[in-house]
Amino acid sequence: MSLVVDNIAELITNDPELGAGPLGIVTDASVVMDGGTVLSVGPAGAQAERRIDAGGRCVLPGFVDSHTHLVFAGDRSEEFTRRMAGEPYDGGGIQVTTNASREAGREALRSALARRLVEVHRAGTTTVEIKSGYGLSVDSEAELTSLAAEVSSESTFLGAHLIPGEYQGRADEYVDLVCGPMLEAVRGHVRWIDAFCETGAFDAGQSRAVLEAGRRAGLGLRLHANQLGHGPGVQLGVELGCASVDHCTYLSDDDIEALAASDTVATFLPATDFSTRQPYPNARRAIDAGVKVAIASNCNPGSSYTTSLSFCIALAVRDMHMTIDEALAAVTTGGAAALRRNDVGRISVGGPAHLTILDAPSRHHLAYRPGVPLIWRTLGADYRLPSADEKPTTEPE
Ligand code: NIG
Repeated sequence: MSLVVDNIAELITNDPELGAGPLGIVTDASVVMDGGTVLSVGPAGAQAERRIDAGGRCVLPGFVDSHTHLVFAGDRSEEFTRRMAGEPYDGGGIQVTTNASREAGREALRSALARRLVEVHRAGTTTVEIKSGYGLSVDSEAELTSLAAEVSSESTFLGAHLIPGEYQGRADEYVDLVCGPMLEAVRGHVRWIDAFCETGAFDAGQSRAVLEAGRRAGLGLRLHANQLGHGPGVQLGVELGCASVDHCTYLSDDDIEALAASDTVATFLPATDFSTRQPYPNARRAIDAGVKVAIASNCNPGSSYTTSLSFCIALAVRDMHMTIDEALAAVTTGGAAALRRNDVGRISVGGPAHLTILDAPSRHHLAYRPGVPLIWRTLGADYRLPSADEKPTTEPE
């Protein structure tokens, strides 16, 4: 059955051939769709079998969240509270979530993931990447990646998230496990491989070994880099041809130069810098130098427990000096580029009908009205939401 979203005050298509400027903005617009595909974009008043009256609201392409860790069990709110009292973040809490996730069991993990996906959808996100990384054993990483793969084609193996307790002092043995039996157990479930290249996690040599093993297994590459300090991560990611290097909180001139000369996207995770009291990355310098950028939520229980890309946009505009248009592009076409996709993050004829309708007349409200429920409706998604008969429980884990 065809559907028209009519009476749109401001439609962002991200297609300059459809509308004004780089965001392809159409005013007084309508979008007609059928069977999950956009049929036409045009002036208000188009006809279809069903109609949603947007009532003068703003319509955007659904957000593309290219960095999340949505499969986990447990709660680290006390760690967050200690951090707000001055304790620094060092990533060590990954082991706490790993212990909880190993113990939780498949059904509890599946239910928690489903609950978070409902939240992701309500937040206006229609494409989501999901990492493992809280299993850190062959069986547990296989479980987490298979759960991610049940719901999203953008699933990522992050066995190299932390050296688990039982491998303390035997880091190289753990890297061999990740590159060998663990990768073998998960490769059928994932599109991407990732590593946490940081002091206290994996050094450049170990990260390189993991990503190169992933490449040999046919996976695309991404890397957590330069989150807690300057380091080799960004340059390693560029050298290996990663689709994205994520965090980039600390960027040297050489890092910016290398990124600008490459196809690697710098994915900023401002909710993480907010929640860990890190400085914000110098996005302005990176963008002005020609670096391709994305913004993602990094939803995880330790460093960034939010699914809200609206919140990330507000932080990017307020604290990273990005314009609203840059920030909006970063969570749509930027996120898509970080996943090497050009079908999502835009509204184009023949493309997927993934639309986010704001309860506001223009995109400016995303930064102007932080913290309010600004998403009126989300249409379509690239991931599988729970059906009515498998509705996730609402009680806390
Ligand atoms: O991207 N930095 C590594 N991984 C996550 C945090 C994980 C955690 O603290 O549980 C991140 O911030």
